[in-house]
Amino acid sequence: MERRELLYKGKAKSVYYTDDADKLILHYLNDTSAFDGEKIEKLDRKGEVNNKFSAFIMQKLEEAGVPTHHEGLLSADEAVVKKMEMFPIECVVRNIAAGSVCKRLGIEEGIDLSPPTFEFFLKNDALHDPMINEYHIRTFGWADDEAVEKMKELTFKVNDTLTKLFADAGLLLVDYKLEFGRYKGEIYLGDEFTPDGCRLWDAETRKKLDKDRFRQGLGGVVEAYEEVAGRLGVDLS
Ligand code: TMP
Ligand code: ASP
Repeated sequence: MERRELLYKGKAKSVYYTDDADKLILHYLNDTSAFDGEKIEKLDRKGEVNNKFSAFIMQKLEEAGVPTHHEGLLSADEAVVKKMEMFPIECVVRNIAAGSVCKRLGIEEGIDLSPPTFEFFLKNDALHDPMINEYHIRTFGWADDEAVEKMKELTFKVNDTLTKLFADAGLLLVDYKLEFGRYKGEIYLGDEFTPDGCRLWDAETRKKLDKDRFRQGLGGVVEAYEEVAGRLGVDLS
């Protein structure tokens, strides 16, 4: 597989065309951003850790019957994925209250959410990724009804699989964000699944082991990601 010109540079990944019109290369960067790009730093090893972490999770999800864009690792910090048309939408499931839902609805951090709750956000940094609902998605044509149903179904299926996977490693999957796209007519999970886009707490101590360490200036960001990877059995060599 040959890397061709840059298609898009995101905050934490660059996306390249390849010699195969159906495939793209994701290059995971050390760049770490929070608050819609307001706070940015380079953190050693993060690109490689996240590349290998996401590949591991995508494989687990495939085994559980969730179709993903992941094709394989190309190098320590690059992966090959299907070239999809992405929906400009973020799907968030919350098992425990944290982050924006606490601020928005005055919910105490750490409360179990039963049943887990689901939110859609518009992917738009300039607007600070506003929360949207299914009527917005329909009216503004961001996705059709069938795709909306599929995204919800797959996002909850991911929850079933990953809450167990993380629980077996002594971790609580507090919440996470997924992005989906369409490839040859079918819907697949895209983007990444890494501690940049989810919240993970130690099940005993509730220590934060995700990007909240960066957002809140707690330090030990990549070390926390490596600890999670180690507990899951992700090969970081
Ligand atoms: P929130 O509490 O800020 O709404 O975020 C919920 C979860 O989704 C959290 O794990 C972080 C993740 N997330 C992203 O990774 N990127 C985003 O743009 C948003 C809105 C959330
Ligand atoms: N991923 C978004 C950003 O970098 C939001 C966040 O994670 O805080 O700005």
